[in-house]
Amino acid sequence: MRVLVAGGAGDVGRMVVPVLARHHQVRVLDLRPPEGEVEFIEGSVTDQAAVEKAARDQDAVVYLAMGRKTGWRDGPAWVASHFAVNVTGPHVTLETCARAGVRQAVYASSMSVFADYTTRDYTADPAPDATDAYGLTKRLGEQVCEAASREHGLAVTALRLVGPMPDEEWHAYRGERRELVTAGSDVAAAFLAALARTEPGFAAYTITGDHDRLTLDWTPAFTALGWRPRARRS
Ligand SMILES: NC(=O)c1ccc[n+]([C@@H]2O[C@H](COP(=O)([O-])OP(=O)(O)OC[C@H]3O[C@@H](n4cnc5c(N)ncnc54)[C@H](O)[C@@H]3O)[C@@H](O)[C@H]2O)c1
Repeated sequence: MRVLVAGGAGDVGRMVVPVLARHHQVRVLDLRPPEGEVEFIEGSVTDQAAVEKAARDQDAVVYLAMGRKTGWRDGPAWVASHFAVNVTGPHVTLETCARAGVRQAVYASSMSVFADYTTRDYTADPAPDATDAYGLTKRLGEQVCEAASREHGLAVTALRLVGPMPDEEWHAYRGERRELVTAGSDVAAAFLAALARTEPGFAAYTITGDHDRLTLDWTPAFTALGWRPRARRS
């Protein structure tokens, strides 16, 4: 397939793009160039003309862009960047891609759509309830995806990531929520698996390194996508 990766030059893009490129023809749309040999179009996810150019002849879109990480929660400009890239961006990108003939989308969501994802009963499939600006924009981003799937009959898969990090970092990681964070190879495999989901409609899955499902349950991702965390710490 021909796959446009919006925001593919970032941290998650570095984990995902090389793997996708082994299976698909990948083109990155970003404000800055990605690493490695991959087709690149410079432009913003909120600029319809740039997205139109990037979406030409593509079969699927993977959305990895997000507002700025620097100066986290430092004021209205930071908030505005997340509303722009996490809400307006998916709207412009999915609308434009759908009109260009794209039928599938994979959206990098986050378990931050929940106010506290470590203290909820996920077997009951709770509704996202985050109220902080980042979590709220990720919730709204999922709603934009759901609306686009209904409006255009797209298959849109949201992957709710938890602490994605390169495998070496994941093996060495001793920080917070150690049992929940996810190895880059597993994150990349989740995007690859989600691209194989073609049934129209919106679905969201938890993507976590919680092997033993002590806190978070990846069973729905396994049932629908055949994905489960595979990286193991020795
Ligand atoms: N990194 C994490 O811990 C984490 C956790 C959960 C979910 N996520 C989600 O994964 C996705 C990727 O996160 P990341 O860590 O790679 O972020 P990142 O900031 O490292 O990368 C985002 C990329 O988007 C690009 N971008 C920003 N604004 C853009 C615009 N207007 N137009 C085009 N490109 C733009 C940036 O240049 C950057 O290359 C995000 O949607 C994020 O919400 C990340």
